[in-house]
Amino acid sequence: MKVKVIPVLEDNYMYLLIEERSRDAVAVDAAVPKRLLDIVRREAVELRALLTTHHHWDHARGNEELARLCPGLRVFGADERIGGLTHPVTHGQELAFGSIRVRCLRTPGHTSGHVCYFAWEDESPDAPALFSGDALLVGGCGRLCEGSAEQMLSSLTGVLPALPRDTWSPTTRRRSRSWRGPSAGTTTTCPRCPPRCTRSSSTTPSCASPRSPCRGSRATRSRWRC
Ligand SMILES: [Fe+2]
Repeated sequence: MKVKVIPVLEDNYMYLLIEERSRDAVAVDAAVPKRLLDIVRREAVELRALLTTHHHWDHARGNEELARLCPGLRVFGADERIGGLTHPVTHGQELAFGSIRVRCLRTPGHTSGHVCYFAWEDESPDAPALFSGDALLVGGCGRLCEGSAEQMLSSLTGVLPALPRDTWSPTTRRRSRSWRGPSAGTTTTCPRCPPRCTRSSSTTPSCASPRSPCRGSRATRSRWRC
């Protein structure tokens, strides 16, 4: 399975998963459809489906346009607010696109309907990949826009660390060893945040503030995304 990472907007990414034998492709989070279709043409692949992690504009604003430009496109997600949604998914549901398999993982916290997609290819030596939307970022996580801190904690310490150890992030090209979830007692106070806002130790990329009222530095704020 080949994964194309496509930077868009200020700090977002779209992804294109390509089954190299058939040249079929599946996109993740099509915020800028024309840019995505440029890559589809350049790669000479056929776009079959779109996976959307959550309904926020910087992940899903291009869904309707992409569906219009690609008639018959299947759009997957777990939130009815996702534009163009044709195939609602549930936690643990497995999808198959040729030899590419995708497991849908409900990860509420950032939004109530957030889903991460865990993808691998049958009979391939390649490690599986996680498309984590705004549930898990590079060194941080999306802020609590809708869900509760308990939901976020469960997503980050229950769902995602259960993935295989060789799972990698297409954004960072890193494997998941740095993210194994916090062990008991590792949460510490974030030095840049108000007292209620806590960030765990370096192994835990989460800010557990109830509504993230952080007034920290730009670098600190950039760890959160809406
Ligand atoms: Fe978001």
